[in-house]
Amino acid sequence: MVPGLAQHYDRYTSEDFEVWRILYERQMPHLNQVAAREYLDGIAAIDFTADRIPDFRQVNLALGDLTGWSLVVVPGIIAEPDFFRLLTQKQFPATTWLRSRAQLDYISEPDMFHDVFGHVPMLTQPAFGRFFEAIGRLGVQYINHPEIVTMLGRMYWFTAEFGLIGPAQNRRIYGAGLLSSYEESRFCLTTEPTHLAFSATSIMHHPYENDHIQDTYYGLETMDQLFESLPEMESVITSSLRLNG
Ligand SMILES: [Fe+2]
Repeated sequence: MVPGLAQHYDRYTSEDFEVWRILYERQMPHLNQVAAREYLDGIAAIDFTADRIPDFRQVNLALGDLTGWSLVVVPGIIAEPDFFRLLTQKQFPATTWLRSRAQLDYISEPDMFHDVFGHVPMLTQPAFGRFFEAIGRLGVQYINHPEIVTMLGRMYWFTAEFGLIGPAQNRRIYGAGLLSSYEESRFCLTTEPTHLAFSATSIMHHPYENDHIQDTYYGLETMDQLFESLPEMESVITSSLRLNG
C-alpha cells in the first residue's frame, strides 16, 4: 500500500483518452443488452461517458452522495490485509493507468478500465456495497487463517468479478471481470460454459484459475442474495475452522 497516491488527471495523454473512448464505445452497446440493471443504473448515476476518463474527485463526490463509498488510488494489486481493511472502510482500491492502444485486449494486471468502468457502477448499489463490506469484515477477522482467506477470495471472484444474475433465458452480467472484457462478456452468456445457481457453500469450495477465461459462472436470482448469504458464509467458515482444528 502506498498511502496518499493521487490520480494526476493532467498527465493523461491523448492516447489514454483515445483508449478509454475505444474501450467504452466497443463495450457499452453490448452491455446495454446484457448487463444487469443495477450496473446500467450505476453507469447512469455515476455519469461515465466515452469522451471523458473518469476524474476520481468527481467519482468520489458522486459515490459519497449515493452510498458513501470512495475510490482510493493504488499502484496495482495490493496485499490481502490492505484490501479487506479498505472494504470495511467502504473504500475501493483502483489503479489510474490505462492499457496501451496496441494491447486493448491484453493486460497483465487490472487497469482503470477494469477497476473503474467495471467496478465503480456497482458501488452505487447499496445491496452490493453491503456485501463488499461484509467480505472485508470477514477478511480482517480471519486474516490469519489462509484457508478462510482463500474461501473469501473465491466469493469475491465468482461474484464481484465474474457474477451473473437473472434466469437462464435472461442472464445478465454484474461482475467487473466480465463487464470490462470484450471477449468474456460475450463468451459467458453462451452455452459453452457451465452456469450454476448461486450458492455460497458451493463457491467457497470452488477453486478457480485467474489466467484464462472461466469455465463456470454462478448466477444470482436477486442482488440481495449476496448479503443474505452472510450467515451461510459464516457457517462454512465455522465448519472449516473446526475441521482444521
Ligand atoms: Fe476487479
